[in-house]
Amino acid sequence: MTKYLVTGAAGFIGANFVKYILKKWGKDVEIVILDDLTYAGNLMTIKDEIEQDNVTFIKGDIGNRELVTDIIATHNPQYIVNFAAESHVDRSITNPRLFLETNILGTQNLLDCARNAWFDGKDGNGKNKYKEGYKFLQISTDEVYGSLSKDFDEAQPLTVSEEVKRVIEGRGDLKTFGTKFFTESTPLAPRSPYSAAKTGADLITLAYHETYGMPINITRCSNNYGPYHFPEKLIPLIIKNILEGKKLPVYGKGENVRDWLYVEDHAKAIDMVLRQGKIGEVYNVGGFNEEQNINIVKTVIAIIARIMNNEPQYQSLLKCKVGDINDNLIEFVADRPGHDMRYAIDPTKIAVELGWYPETPFEIGIEKTIRWYLENQDWVESVASGDYQRYYEQMYHNRQ
Ligand SMILES: NC(=O)c1ccc[n+]([C@@H]2O[C@H](COP(=O)([O-])OP(=O)(O)OC[C@H]3O[C@@H](n4cnc5c(N)ncnc54)[C@H](O)[C@@H]3O)[C@@H](O)[C@H]2O)c1
Repeated sequence: MTKYLVTGAAGFIGANFVKYILKKWGKDVEIVILDDLTYAGNLMTIKDEIEQDNVTFIKGDIGNRELVTDIIATHNPQYIVNFAAESHVDRSITNPRLFLETNILGTQNLLDCARNAWFDGKDGNGKNKYKEGYKFLQISTDEVYGSLSKDFDEAQPLTVSEEVKRVIEGRGDLKTFGTKFFTESTPLAPRSPYSAAKTGADLITLAYHETYGMPINITRCSNNYGPYHFPEKLIPLIIKNILEGKKLPVYGKGENVRDWLYVEDHAKAIDMVLRQGKIGEVYNVGGFNEEQNINIVKTVIAIIARIMNNEPQYQSLLKCKVGDINDNLIEFVADRPGHDMRYAIDPTKIAVELGWYPETPFEIGIEKTIRWYLENQDWVESVASGDYQRYYEQMYHNRQ
């Protein structure tokens, strides 16, 4: 039985991670979820999971020392996976302080509580020992590396090394907009309050490893997409606005490039790093799938228009005419201040060391994602209307 403490698992990636490990490991895992249910946390996302007897949900702040100490003492998790964070760049521009509190101080609190609980005396050289097989994994982002230049106007085929080619069998669609990539040794150079706060969390995690010998890993991942993504982020927002017949706001000229990874592939990478990653190491996780924001938006428009034309049963979800679903919906808006131009992850290390690769080609992942949103409009509506908060009240008060 492997026990996990997963923080922030009522959010997008954490929830998908919990679903993934339950699907993969079934009753061989026990999961405790700690989430403070901020605006981004939705208990409805994980309602089936928290009903299982090997999953426990606890509402609370990762920065609460007494609570985290008690959870670790009671449940004795072998792995702590920290997804909990303030995660939206635009919100960080409005309220940077909250990002530092949650992302840096919250992470430091988790590390400290784990250090106290896992400390197991000194070895023959006077170095700290920790309980065997225990590990803290900090979920980080490619944004800590700052911004790369965009060298090509159109995507070019991406060439990878022979050793990576052997791992990524079957993916012939790799592409890039530039000649430089983020590796694990790229200097950290965050440019937004969000990414600066995530960098602070990475640095304190590494410091706990260097200073106290704590067993840690860090994963730095590119943009995720998939089910249960809060509709303030690009892809779910575009889907929602298309169905509602609203304009599709795109920053600047939509030229910024992101590397998109299907969320389940990220979940798989995290579990591999927990189980096989070398202590103290950082692993980049990326999709080999760079795309300009404008092309992402146009792709989503084209897929929804096709589905609506070919499968008219979905037309009842529309608040506009099928014929209005076209590129005229796009509306360019003033750019985000300090908007990073391009992110591009080089995931060679995790591919070669652990055998991970992004299995889901973008055209398959994006179609699955759009179809999930079409099938799960009740989830979207609950998020938009705040109904999920009432659901929480019901669930939580029943559990006191
Ligand atoms: N979304 C991406 O594309 C992406 C890419 C790379 C890395 N990441 C990182 O992955 C992690 C998860 O991202 P996401 O997109 O799922 O975020 P999210 O905003 O959807 O979810 C964050 C979750 O953390 C919870 N939370 C916030 N503050 C908390 C606190 N103080 N204590 C306990 N819980 C708290 C929220 O309630 C929510 O459930 C973040 O650390 C983010 O930096 C995200």
